[in-house]
Amino acid sequence: MKPQPDFIHDFVPAVSSRTLLLLHGTGGNERDLIGLGRELDPNAALLSPRGKVLENGMPRFFRRLAEGVFDLEDLKYRANELADFVAAAAQHYSFNIDHLVAVGYSNGANIAASMLLVRPEVLPAAILFRAMVPIIPDEFPDLSSTRVWIGAGAHDPIIPASEAKHLAELLRSAGADVTIRFANTGHGLTNDDVMGARDWLKVLNRRENVE
Ligand code: MLT
Repeated sequence: MKPQPDFIHDFVPAVSSRTLLLLHGTGGNERDLIGLGRELDPNAALLSPRGKVLENGMPRFFRRLAEGVFDLEDLKYRANELADFVAAAAQHYSFNIDHLVAVGYSNGANIAASMLLVRPEVLPAAILFRAMVPIIPDEFPDLSSTRVWIGAGAHDPIIPASEAKHLAELLRSAGADVTIRFANTGHGLTNDDVMGARDWLKVLNRRENVE
């Protein structure tokens, strides 16, 4: 039996009790972020689904009407569907959702941020590389136990610095503990981003005793 609802996905079992939920960018797939996940935490389990929406043949996690203009109905539907998959996968692969950290890049970071806002119970922590404000919820969730690390690009042509700061403020106003770092670069990931996120995750691993 596969986890239901199912996504095409990779699952790599863990040495520790940490699981990373890897969420690729537009045009990516379930294999894209496996190497990044291993760099961030060599002992964690890796759950890496492929986005189900196709934009000109490129997988994404939700529909958009134009760059940065999202189909909000689809976004909410997809955030719920992915949250249900994560909950089912936790049962199927026997991992503890309390030690789950989402790691999203670009479109993957935007669906992770959406899950934090609409289904916070499946995501206690998230690393968001190049994320924007995906949706303003009607009701703010209680994120007082949620930890978020945001890696923004100071010269990102797709996501202005003000947008990344807005996301940090939105999550903070829901009670989340948010760290935001700006790398001196654009939309692409750099080693600085990876090192920053890895250090933050190490502290979280120590705090949760999952090393
Ligand atoms: C999105 O659509 O999620 C953002 O515009 C980032 C992207 O995937 O280009």
